[in-house]
Amino acid sequence: VIKRGFSTNIALNAIKNVTVIGGGLMGSGIAQVAAQAGQNVTLVDVNADIIKKSESNIQSSLARVAKKLHNGDQKFVADTISRIKFDVDPLKNISEADLVIEAVVENMTIKHKLFKSLDEAAPTKTIFASNTSSLSIGEIASVTKRKDRFGGLHFFNPVAVMKLLEVIRIPETSDATYTAMMDWGKSLGKSCITCKDTPGFVVNRLLVPYLAEAARLLERGDANARDIDTAMKLGAGYPMGPLELADYTGLDTCLFILDGWYKKYPDNALFKCPDNLRKLVQDGKLGRKTGEGFYSYKK
Ligand code: NAI
Repeated sequence: VIKRGFSTNIALNAIKNVTVIGGGLMGSGIAQVAAQAGQNVTLVDVNADIIKKSESNIQSSLARVAKKLHNGDQKFVADTISRIKFDVDPLKNISEADLVIEAVVENMTIKHKLFKSLDEAAPTKTIFASNTSSLSIGEIASVTKRKDRFGGLHFFNPVAVMKLLEVIRIPETSDATYTAMMDWGKSLGKSCITCKDTPGFVVNRLLVPYLAEAARLLERGDANARDIDTAMKLGAGYPMGPLELADYTGLDTCLFILDGWYKKYPDNALFKCPDNLRKLVQDGKLGRKTGEGFYSYKK
């Protein structure tokens, strides 16, 4: 006998109204691509200055898309941006939302607080998703009463350009929710892959330990930084070498992800942060954004 919870029987209609929470790098990108696909979007950030900045960033990004794909059509820009409402209140328009995507800072306590209040305010039909890179979707969902309508939608930076979307199922995610998330991702023009709720899903699970291994190779003195990067570009066909990529991503982000995973999985040596990476972060050398990481970017 298959026991069906009441919520698994809810027919989930196609997603038309989306609320994106967090108007930073990722949230603005997600709001933009959803609006480009004809969706009604509410983009929320607690910080009023950031939400203003998101609007102008989306405007300039749309202008670039218009130039490239729509013959510079300004109507495309105006129509797309008119589908996005910008706000500072996460609960505004929530009664309309078919889908809420969270893209706030990578902090479990903040995500829990947000989802708890959203869960109380959102209608039963609303699907919740997190864009987290490194935290467990199941743990984020644990504070809600809608785990069957919860999943991960993991986009890549820059969202308007990167084709991949990782769709993450937790054990409780219903088939209807999963299908709605996949269909929605495809409607945005993304190539969707499915992954279980495991650390880093597919891309970061492979990428982050690879970056750490490159740092270990350097630390042992087996090869110098330039040679490690050249080797992977010319020998493996990667567009960037691992140390360049770590600098580009931000060494603080790499450290944060590794430390989070290692704390949870101390037996997995792949998740242990190399000392050289940790030292760079301690010295404030976070990569490109501070002008120095594995390489110096100072002119
Ligand atoms: P970000 O720092 O650019 O943006 C986060 C925004 O969330 C900030 O503008 C902040 O004001 C806002 N915020 C914080 N608490 C809030 C709340 N309670 N309600 C509404 N807004 C709130 O960060 P970014 O890079 O956009 O990352 C966001 C999420 O996306 C993180 O979970 C991260 O792991 C994930 N992610 C990041 C990627 C990247 O390349 N940066 C790639 C894929 C996922």
